[in-house]
Amino acid sequence: MKIICVMNLKGGTGKTVTADNLAAILADLHGKRVLLIDADHQGNTSSFFRWEEGATLRDILTGDAEPYWRESVQTTGILNLDMIPADISLAELDASPYFDPKRLWRLRYFLMAAREDNVYDYVVIDMPPAFSLAARAALAAADEVIVPIKLDAFSVKGMAELLRQLRSMERVNPGLTLAGVLITMWRNIDVVHQAEEILRSSRDLKVFQTTIRRTDRVDESTFQRQPLHIYSPRSAASIDYQQFVAEYLLGGRENG
Ligand SMILES: Nc1ncnc2c1ncn2[C@@H]1O[C@H](COP(=O)(O)OP(=O)(O)OP(=O)(O)O)[C@@H](O)[C@H]1O
Ligand SMILES: [Mg+2]
Repeated sequence: MKIICVMNLKGGTGKTVTADNLAAILADLHGKRVLLIDADHQGNTSSFFRWEEGATLRDILTGDAEPYWRESVQTTGILNLDMIPADISLAELDASPYFDPKRLWRLRYFLMAAREDNVYDYVVIDMPPAFSLAARAALAAADEVIVPIKLDAFSVKGMAELLRQLRSMERVNPGLTLAGVLITMWRNIDVVHQAEEILRSSRDLKVFQTTIRRTDRVDESTFQRQPLHIYSPRSAASIDYQQFVAEYLLGGRENG
């Protein structure tokens, strides 16, 4: 069971679209058993898959969830894909003046129990654009980080900060690795070409060969609450996400 965080500290880089489509493609097109966790108090992934009353990530972090891990996961309507939702109450954990260090570790223990029961092949975590308690708890539990990046003048600068924070997380979780940076919302314009060249020439970054093209079908698919391969299988972004997942599964990555 591999645990993947989809993370970037910058907002609006395609984290949620990437996490949701990665999870849906792994489950629906590759027959993998997947658990999708929403670690963002904005709850975008949770609304996308229409969550029901029940445990949220907050309950797991605070220790209020049912003792048996399986009682805290929900089905999504997609075969092989389960979910743990989040809502705005997750943000209160960061606002609380009282810090309980156990909150940093409960998700890790939760996922260790799931790993022992051998129920999932992949856990995909949709991260918030912040180093929140939920984000740190997810990184403490994770094996890998995928970083979706939307190329613009500030994205490369933001990457340096993200890498610095990931390195600081290695103290908490030495097993954490960067699976790769994924270029999202790609457009055929000069500034994107230039930024892509800078990113790909960086020696210490793995950048996935596949880029995700920008297309209006993505916004439409989120309104329809359907993964791209169901809503618009032949759209550019749908084809790209399928290719990205194939690349990820093959482990074929480019090193600068
Ligand atoms: N390939 C794409 N083509 C067109 N629009 C896209 C694409 N990928 C994402 N978007 C749109 O860009 C916006 C931001 O995407 P998304 O919500 O996935 O980003 P995020 O990184 O999760 O944001 P946040 O930091 O707020 O959690 C959304 O409106 C989404 O529909
Ligand atoms: Mg998001």
